[in-house]
Amino acid sequence: MKKVLILYYSQSGQLESVMDQIVAPLFLCDEVQCDYHKIEPEIPYPYPWPFYTFFNVFPEAVYLDGCPVKPIATEENYDLIILGYTSWFLSPSIPVTGFLQSNQAKRLFKNTPVITVIACRDMWLMAQEKMKGLLSDLGAQLIDNVVLTDQGKSLYTFITTPRWMLTGKKDSFWFFPPAGVLQKEIASSSRFGERLCKALHNDEERSNISLLRNLGAVNVNGKLIATEHIAHRSFLIWSKLIKKAGPQNSRGRNVVITIYVIFLLTLILTVVPLNMLIRKLLSPLRKKSLAKAIHYYEQPSRK
Ligand SMILES: Cc1cc2nc3c(=O)[nH]c(=O)nc-3n(C[C@H](O)[C@H](O)[C@H](O)COP(=O)(O)O)c2cc1C
Repeated sequence: MKKVLILYYSQSGQLESVMDQIVAPLFLCDEVQCDYHKIEPEIPYPYPWPFYTFFNVFPEAVYLDGCPVKPIATEENYDLIILGYTSWFLSPSIPVTGFLQSNQAKRLFKNTPVITVIACRDMWLMAQEKMKGLLSDLGAQLIDNVVLTDQGKSLYTFITTPRWMLTGKKDSFWFFPPAGVLQKEIASSSRFGERLCKALHNDEERSNISLLRNLGAVNVNGKLIATEHIAHRSFLIWSKLIKKAGPQNSRGRNVVITIYVIFLLTLILTVVPLNMLIRKLLSPLRKKSLAKAIHYYEQPSRK
């Protein structure tokens, strides 16, 4: 009997429905026991988010200050762990970070193959780099990564995802598409569970190689690589400033957050379009290095 532990943290239920699809074939799989658990912070995060609460978690997310989470009622010694997480400010969400920093995670993840599943807007590269560090600290082996991103171009999701997070509204409006991942894409995630069922049957999970290759598990948008690098560097600086201004929800912190949001909007309306234009002009010269970067970020589950 193979034992699979499935863990995730989801607020609106979107990532939960992705996990449901992936896991459904595993529940039907002979000789596989699935233990399926939601990670729960001791103090829940709101959804939809009030504006200042949303930005108040920014420094803690960026600096991987995980929150205390409730212990999960599980056994130990799993053959495979499937970990679903969302990206918060280019970092794993705080509850998932909190769980991975717990003593329980140390016992569960040591020497265990792990598959990460991400459902986010479209900026997950830096979050996954941080995730690799957290998993390596636990002595776990990352063998696959599945990524689903929100429908529509980045320019649209820059509006539709925050609108969804701050109001709970996912519907399309004006010329904007609905927020979130396409339903069709979520439904087709069951293909990963089907492949895993076969792989577990053949004892492939211990071979330390990807089980989900050639299934379109991950698709890196090359245009976003540089943006994520630049944004993450600026996030580190601003997070430090916001932290120094005071504890969460203090007046000092909210003042610096207000300045930051104004700065961010100005940047987006000025520097970002200029940067996009420059990169477009330079793209023929950067083809090789871009292909190399895409190859790196698409590991271990490259198409
Ligand atoms: C505080 C916060 C920060 C977020 N930051 C990012 C981000 O940096 N990149 C991204 O692609 N999505 C980001 N998102 C969107 C989430 O990754 C995810 O798509 C959304 O929270 C819905 O997931 P869920 O309802 O299943 O938890 C953020 C969401 C929240 C709440």
